[in-house]
Amino acid sequence: MLSADSLSQIDEIVSRYPQAKAALLPALWVAQEAYGGHLTREAQAEVADHLGLPRAEVEGVATYYTMYNKEAVGRHHVEVCHNVSCMIFGADDLIHHMEHELGISAGETTADGVFTLNRAECLGACCNPVAIQVGGTYYEDVRTTAQVDAILGKLRTDASDITPQAAIGRLGDI
Ligand code: FES
Repeated sequence: MLSADSLSQIDEIVSRYPQAKAALLPALWVAQEAYGGHLTREAQAEVADHLGLPRAEVEGVATYYTMYNKEAVGRHHVEVCHNVSCMIFGADDLIHHMEHELGISAGETTADGVFTLNRAECLGACCNPVAIQVGGTYYEDVRTTAQVDAILGKLRTDASDITPQAAIGRLGDI
């Protein structure tokens, strides 16, 4: 169940818009974070009821956008863009390296629940390929397996439950 704090965050977001419906996307973000990075059907229903929207409409929005995780993900959800710009700059090689390092295939979660690895469509950072998103943190200009190892190494020592959606990271921050 969404906590009073989460509902309060949603109410604050709603207050910025003329209609509650306009706040649906950020409200779903709040719910997804509150549920540990997984937008469950229960969470979708809670948001729908709180905003006074039909549950089917909210479910339609939640299932349309890939940024909402309908399945449980690991503590660190690593998404590597494999669209044109990133593909040209070696995204496939980096994904294969990650698969080897994590012992999983793209689309899977490690047995310890720490990492989920996914291929992503364009992350909107085409001018700085390869782009990798981990929760709300972006890493851009990732070109080498050594850089990938640095990112994974940082995440392995990160004990936080979930990467905050508000965080903005660059490779230089590692
Ligand atoms: S193609 Fe990778 S960010 Fe756009």
